[in-house]
Amino acid sequence: MLPPSLPPLPSPPPPPSFLHYHGIVITDPTLARYVLRSKYLDKFRFIYSFLDEFLGGPNLLTGHTDAHWKALRKGVAPAFSVSNMKYAFDVIRGRCDKLVAILDALVAGEKGGTDAEGAINVDNLLLRESMDVIGRVGFERDMGALDAFGKDGGCAAAGPGKDVQVMIDATEEVIERIERPFDTVFKAWTPKIRHGHALMAHWQGVVGGLLKHIKAVHTAPGSFCNLLLKVKDPKTGAGLTDAQMTPEIAALFFAGIDTTGHTGTWALYLLSQHPDVEAKVLAELEAAELLVSPDRPDPRPIEWADLARLVYLQAFIKEVLRLYPPVGIGQMRICHTHDLSLAGGRLFVPRGTIVWVPHHAMHNAAHNWDEPEAFKPERWLVAGGGVEFADRLTMPKEWYQGWADEAAAAAADGALASAPSVGPSTDPDLAGLAGAGDASAAGADRPKRYFPFAEGPRNCVGQSLAMVTLPTTLALLLSRFHFKLAPSMGGRGGVEAREQYTLVTGIRDGMMMQAVPRPGSKVVAAAAATGPAVVAGAA
Ligand code: HEM
Repeated sequence: MLPPSLPPLPSPPPPPSFLHYHGIVITDPTLARYVLRSKYLDKFRFIYSFLDEFLGGPNLLTGHTDAHWKALRKGVAPAFSVSNMKYAFDVIRGRCDKLVAILDALVAGEKGGTDAEGAINVDNLLLRESMDVIGRVGFERDMGALDAFGKDGGCAAAGPGKDVQVMIDATEEVIERIERPFDTVFKAWTPKIRHGHALMAHWQGVVGGLLKHIKAVHTAPGSFCNLLLKVKDPKTGAGLTDAQMTPEIAALFFAGIDTTGHTGTWALYLLSQHPDVEAKVLAELEAAELLVSPDRPDPRPIEWADLARLVYLQAFIKEVLRLYPPVGIGQMRICHTHDLSLAGGRLFVPRGTIVWVPHHAMHNAAHNWDEPEAFKPERWLVAGGGVEFADRLTMPKEWYQGWADEAAAAAADGALASAPSVGPSTDPDLAGLAGAGDASAAGADRPKRYFPFAEGPRNCVGQSLAMVTLPTTLALLLSRFHFKLAPSMGGRGGVEAREQYTLVTGIRDGMMMQAVPRPGSKVVAAAAATGPAVVAGAA
């Protein structure tokens, strides 16, 4: 963390040239907040432009923070309201039943989708669940990804399995293009580049089908697609054209599927490595009468109200998102027109400099956390049994009080540090940051050291859906199965070697795990009655 006396950065470096940017990396919570809340630092569009072919153009996720983005965000945000999330909860519960049925079938001896060790790629399964949930909740369409599990030949044949895999592969393709931006031009004829274009085209086909669908059906009031159809282009005052709507559909899937699916995977993996944590999750499920046991082979269905009661489960999920923030790469901002002086002059950002706030580093830095490498859901718990939102980093007032005073003074003239000057001006948006934070009892304005869903106006619009999908899915899966890392993964070291920190924090080639039914499970009883076909390390 920066000491309060740190001077502004020295004189500005030379301006950036083509494909050459200067950058500042920030893991200090206070500075991060200034950066991510500044209305002068916009998304670094250049990096997002590599997604354009995949998503069909700029969109809510990748576009500039301008009037168009504002109209979109305001238009579709109500789709993630509490009442819609209650509907989503029912959808998710339905998809979880399918997940459980798939795993039951494997336990009962069906082989489709398992490897020689009886292990299953849980990542693929959870990505499919995510696709189905977003398809139904966002676009009122059954994508059929779970139904096709084990039957659709994965990526080999056209179908939902291929759609999921194409999305994963296309994301990797985008990363490669960022790393080697000239290949698409200078190696355009190679099979690899042509395959990349085919991936993008395939995904555009899936999205085109969805667009046709939402225009043909009577969409439910308040759903994402219903709201999207009503958004008006601020330039024309007319509804969005097909060309404008396609990237929005693609972006919602892209933003929602990988992130939610991989988080579920990391949760199952971490639990397999931490039996003490699993025992506490199970104790909570047992107390809520949701756990399968010999006395309760068929527990009651999980209800909406359970989500708030499953406090340890919530803390567990928060800790998973800390260690493996899905958008680990974080957020990148830039101001092309002005030099900026933020945080009372403590952060000088020359015009054209990238400011990068990497979430993974922020969440795992020793200056932000005690024992950052330890998996400790308990760090989120407070006495009395609630989950404390420890993302409010309590910092000594003297660390930031001076900044706030300077910021307030600078805001009085409301000026930016106009290029090329290096003044003590600051972003007027943030005047009084520290003062406000200190005054508020809840510390709601305090700098954050934890923001898996991003910070500032461009935070995740779909986070409520993720935070319903994850606890519901995990509660249902864990109440019925213990997940064991398959030997083929090579233990913790093998998993670490396959961790992928690209656009989304994932695992190369998926996560193979064995699903072991809990004692008392009906599928174990049925299998025992019919013979020795019980699978996959059943306890
Ligand atoms: C665990 C799950 C999720 C995590 C950790 C997550 C995280 C994030 C982050 C960090 C951003 C900012 C990205 C950036 O600035 O480049 C973001 C933006 C966004 N997310 Fe999520 N997300 C999740 C799930 C979802 C879901 C389920 C949806 C929708 C179905 C969604 C839709 C979006 C959209 C549309 C944006 C762009 C918002 C804007 O710029 O106005 N996300 N998300």
